[in-house]
Parts: sequence; C-alpha cells; structure tokens
Amino acid sequence: MKAVLCKAFGPAENLALEDVPTPEPKKNEILLSVHAAGVNFPDTLIIEGKYQFKPPFPFSPGGEASGVVAAAGEKVSHLKVGDRVMALTGWGSFAEQIAVASYNVLPIPEAMDFITAAAFSMTYGTSMHALKQRANLQAGETLLVLGASGGVGLAAVEIGKAMGARVIAAASSAEKLDVAKNAGADELINYSETNLKDELKRLTNGNGVDVIYDPVGGDLFDQAVRAIAWNGRLLVVGFASGRIPELPVNLALLKGASVIGVFWGSFAQRQPQDNAANFQQLFKWYSEGKLKPLVSKIYPLEQAGEAIDSLGQRKAVGKVVVKVR
Ligand SMILES: NC(=O)c1ccc[n+]([C@@H]2O[C@H](COP(=O)([O-])OP(=O)(O)OC[C@H]3O[C@@H](n4cnc5c(N)ncnc54)[C@H](OP(=O)(O)O)[C@@H]3O)[C@@H](O)[C@H]2O)c1
Repeated sequence: MKAVLCKAFGPAENLALEDVPTPEPKKNEILLSVHAAGVNFPDTLIIEGKYQFKPPFPFSPGGEASGVVAAAGEKVSHLKVGDRVMALTGWGSFAEQIAVASYNVLPIPEAMDFITAAAFSMTYGTSMHALKQRANLQAGETLLVLGASGGVGLAAVEIGKAMGARVIAAASSAEKLDVAKNAGADELINYSETNLKDELKRLTNGNGVDVIYDPVGGDLFDQAVRAIAWNGRLLVVGFASGRIPELPVNLALLKGASVIGVFWGSFAQRQPQDNAANFQQLFKWYSEGKLKPLVSKIYPLEQAGEAIDSLGQRKAVGKVVVKVR
C-alpha cells in the first residue's frame, strides 16, 4: 500500500510517497481502509519534531481519518468489517491503510460523507470538550474565539452558538472573519487592524468576556486575558502563533478567573464514555444543520505535504482534507 512518509524531522517538502507493507491489526485494533484524512496543526509540528509525540521513523503524519473497517481484531466488539467509521489516529492517516485502537474509532452517521467525517473528530471533539467539560459554557454568556476561522476555532464558533452563547470571533483578516460570520459569529474583531483588548471591552460594555477560547497564544493571549470578565474562564487550547505565553497570576486573582487546560486526546482516552456522549450531541447538532463543517480544500495523497504547509503558512480556513481514495 502507499503511504506518505516522514523519514527525518524537517519541512513538509521532504515527505515522500512510498510503498510500505500493510499493517496487521492487533487483538484490540481494526484495520482501516482510509478514504480521507483531515489535516490539523499538530501535523505541522510532528514532522518537525516539535510535537509532544515523536513517533519512530519512518512514520506517516495525519492525526485523523475516515474510511471503512477492512479487518477487526478478535477483541473488537463494537465494530465489524464494512462499517463506515472515523478514527483518531494521532499519526499515520496519510496512508491507504492504518491499524487503529478500536476505542479511537466511531461509526459515521449515515448522512455524513467521508470527506466531512475526516474533518470532524479532532476539531469538533476538541472544541466540544473545551466548551462543555472545561469551561461549562452557559447560554447567554459571551465567548471569545481567537483564530476563529481555523480548524478548532471555527468548530468553537459553531458549538458556542449551538450552546446559546454570544460569540465574538477574532481573526487576522476580513476574509477569515467572513468565514466566522457565515458560521454564526455575532461579533467580529480583526486583530491585525484593531486593539483586541479595547474592542473586547467596547463590545462587552467594559465587563469583558466570560470564556476565552485560545488556540493561538502569543500576543493575542496577552491582550485577551486583560479583557476577561469576573468569574471568567480562559481555555488554553494551543499555541499556533509559536509562543507559549505567560500569565501574571494577579490577573486571575483580580477577576476571580480560572485558567483551564484543554487536552482532548487525553480526555478521549481517559473518559471514553463522556467523549462518546459529546459525539452523540455533536452528531445530533450536525443532523439538525446546526454544525456545517467547512472543508475549504481537498488535496490528493501525493500532495499531503502541501496540505500541511497551507496550515503552517496560515493560509487555510476551516479544514483541509487529504483524499486517499
Ligand atoms: N488542546 C487540544 O486538545 C488541541 C486539539 C487540536 C488542536 N490543538 C491546537 O490548536 C491550535 C490550532 O489547531 P488547528 O488545527 O485548528 O490549526 P489551524 O486550522 O491552522 O488554525 C490555527 C489558527 O491560528 C491562527 N494563527 C495565528 N498565528 C499563526 C501562525 N503563526 N501560524 C499559523 N496559524 C496562526 C490562524 O488564524 P489567524 O490568521 O486568523 O490568526 C489560524 O487560523 C494548534 O496549536 C493545535 O496544536 C489543540
């Protein structure tokens, strides 16, 4: 079978499409015939050796996939050969087949196609966990989403609206803000042109925002945290800007605010039943038309490196997907 391989840490242009042996699923794994694989920011990090996981070489990047169960290990009970599924893989999805632990695999709703399914689990799973279990977001609260046109950001905009929040979307260009507006954002802030903190104060009558969803970090974190409301919750989701910010904790004291870490992959592994319940809710919202995953570009497998680069160069909106078959 064919797979896109990373043989040494380096830029995406070094990835190579090669023939490799088909993996053998273990007792608690399935063999997935991959139809499509979603691209996520961690793919830009894992090939450079900058992610928290460093798989042995050669490995294929690609943290999530959709496809059909081609074989199932003897201990797998909730899936069978032929099932349409989506899988959280961590890496390995830019390949025609992959062996995946069955607890990371969910059946796809009938109405969902393979491209959408490949783009769904990481972003919606992360943002649902962040807003539900971590922030306990309430209807009527104000939610700020940074990087609001990106993968996890756009999912947070949609989920925030579905939960009844007033959503302020912040992004770096008018085009990116249009994307967030189409996803339902109530207010828009272009942080390339305006001061984020001042705009947040203005839009909240000086009160600040109840929940901050931050997948970007860096200077935006520094500004946003100074516009958090009393009893606010600051969700630490990621550092796409490249800088892990630091917080003067007197700000947390003065606002009675909480800084809350979000690590969806670990949550899904440690609390699989809660994660499954989240996905039941997400699939319900999807079937009701409240979630409309945006796949802005589809690349063939041999161009997986370009797909990863589009995120690294801050060009992607919504999700980009690699079509494998
Ligand atoms: N905690 C978790 O469980 C979890 C799960 C999945 C992902 N993440 C993290 O969440 C972050 C976003 O992931 P994603 O897949 O949604 O990425 P993405 O689609 O590329 O979105 C990232 C957004 O960050 C903004 N950004 C600001 N500076 C950037 C820079 N120097 N390079 C690239 N983007 C920059 C961009 O928006 P503007 O141009 O509008 O600023 C972009 O839309 C990553 O740090 C990722 O590791 C965390």
